[in-house]
Amino acid sequence: MNAASPVIGDSVLRCSGLGFHVRDAELLHGIHLDIRRGETLGLVGPNGSGKSTLLKLLAGVRVPSRGDIHLNGQCLKALSRRTIAQTLAVVEQQADTLDAISVFDAVALGRAPWLSALSPWSSEDDAIVLQALRDVDVAHLKNRNWHSLSGGERQRVHIARALAQRPQILLLDGPTNHLDIQHQLAILKVVQALSVTTLIALHDLNQALICDRLAVLDRGRLVALGKPLEVLTPQCLQDTFGVHGHYLVDPFDGAQILRFRSV
Ligand SMILES: Nc1ncnc2c1ncn2[C@@H]1O[C@H](COP(=O)(O)OP(=O)(O)OP(=O)(O)O)[C@@H](O)[C@H]1O
Ligand SMILES: [Mg+2]
Repeated sequence: MNAASPVIGDSVLRCSGLGFHVRDAELLHGIHLDIRRGETLGLVGPNGSGKSTLLKLLAGVRVPSRGDIHLNGQCLKALSRRTIAQTLAVVEQQADTLDAISVFDAVALGRAPWLSALSPWSSEDDAIVLQALRDVDVAHLKNRNWHSLSGGERQRVHIARALAQRPQILLLDGPTNHLDIQHQLAILKVVQALSVTTLIALHDLNQALICDRLAVLDRGRLVALGKPLEVLTPQCLQDTFGVHGHYLVDPFDGAQILRFRSV
């Protein structure tokens, strides 16, 4: 994302000709996407356009019906789950429930790909988990049971678990869903400050404007890819999202903001 971004480099996650169908339903068609090292790529599109499906394919959670995915130049299907998890962390839209464990233990699950008989849990893992809890403002909840948390608190704990994984690539599906406005902005700030490559599915198009690039999905197809202001044109907003939209200038900082009207 803009100011704090590291230099954006070569491709770290790439898919070509990606397709996915369930029985006779074609959910994704011929997706070509190159995610570049260090960038924050926003994924936007209406409900049901295929954002979560695409993220699951890129994370190796689902197997594509067509096409290839390469992670750091290696074919995803040839990599072990452990290798993938050391590189890539995912926060799903409907994350699993983790009933009978504490918040600390839920976030500690993020360290699993790094642990082995030769590399058991250490004080460094404790420090990484505590830092992840602090990053999303849930350190005060660390001894609480997961099931006692509110929806937004759970969402933040899931993000902390992904941060504790210390991935090169973060795939976030609606990370600001369920969050109050203060925590929405705080999570975006945390993501912005990370020196990791991030693919983030967002519904709030004004929040999406802070991404380096945006990919727009419509009915399972990639219909636009590029800089946010070049991609989210009034025509795109009408054709893909079915709304009228125009830009206003925020008198506070001169930033462009979108205002919408129904068609
Ligand atoms: N197992 C399935 N069988 C049939 N259709 C499915 C299945 N899984 C997903 N779909 C359909 O695929 C389409 C894309 O779903 P997906 O969850 O990827 O959309 P999305 O862009 O993430 O939507 P949202 O903004 O609501 O999160 C939807 O129409 C959904 O109903
Ligand atoms: Mg979704």
